[in-house]
Amino acid sequence: MSALAQDTDVFEKFKEAQKQGWSHFAPLEVMTTPTAARLVAHAHVLPGQQLLDVGCGTGVVAVTAARLGAHVTGLDLTPALLERARENSRVASLEIEWREGDVEKLPYENAAFDVVVSQFGHMFAPRPDVAVAEMLRVLKPGGTIAFSTWPPELMVGQTFQLVGRYMPPPPPGVSPPHQWGDPNVIRERLGAAVRDIVFDRARMRVSALSPQHYRVHLEQTAGPVLKLVESLGASDPTRLGEFRHAYEALVEEYLEDNLVRQDYLLTRATKN
Ligand SMILES: C[S@@+](CC[C@H](N)C(=O)[O-])C[C@H]1O[C@@H](n2cnc3c(N)ncnc32)[C@H](O)[C@@H]1O
Repeated sequence: MSALAQDTDVFEKFKEAQKQGWSHFAPLEVMTTPTAARLVAHAHVLPGQQLLDVGCGTGVVAVTAARLGAHVTGLDLTPALLERARENSRVASLEIEWREGDVEKLPYENAAFDVVVSQFGHMFAPRPDVAVAEMLRVLKPGGTIAFSTWPPELMVGQTFQLVGRYMPPPPPGVSPPHQWGDPNVIRERLGAAVRDIVFDRARMRVSALSPQHYRVHLEQTAGPVLKLVESLGASDPTRLGEFRHAYEALVEEYLEDNLVRQDYLLTRATKN
């Protein structure tokens, strides 16, 4: 096998594992529904625009934009979530085109969209340079790219790093998702292809009775945590116990009045 074919194989395997990990995410749409409205507002979505929601999951951003009158396409790696997305658009009587696919290889023509958005989605692609090149390729010149990501120094970014410390290292060439939460990294990744970058911060609030309740819920629904529990549960239960302890301590820092506060970063830019 050539080196290129081997590399491709590594990334395909990585995405296959991601697909399995994310397939139980649907209950978390209650958390990402309010933040979807915030991203759509940040992107200044207008009626009649052609909009692509990348890593759309159950379609919370897509549905929000379609209700404003945008012509929406939602793309995601995980078929189980697209099923729920179809149901979400059906319930709201909206025409949205849902498609299974990979942000690193978007099945669209150049300059097909006025707006490309991603809420906590494209950040999970293993190769940020490939993902961002694809998102910009399908965007019209003068169009808007906008996304929400998790800052590395705050709760969810810290969670990714904690999970990273307890999992085997990812294959070479796979970038950690928390880097997408750093404005300096984002500026570098978008580079000269865009102008007028605007950052903002917003807060997701998640109800939880205790850090343990929150942990149990996330272990059943959030891809990276779910995969870790699956892997350590089988190979090293003691280490899994250590992870759980560390994770609960992290959640405790952000839990107040039965709400876990999770601040995130919003980015918007115009394609040159
Ligand atoms: C945290 S969920 C966010 C889902 C949705 N945007 C929301 O806000 O509810 C991450 C999503 O990214 C998707 N995803 C991960 N890697 C992807 C890839 N390479 N291409 C497309 N989607 C991907 C997952 O399937 C999952 O639906």
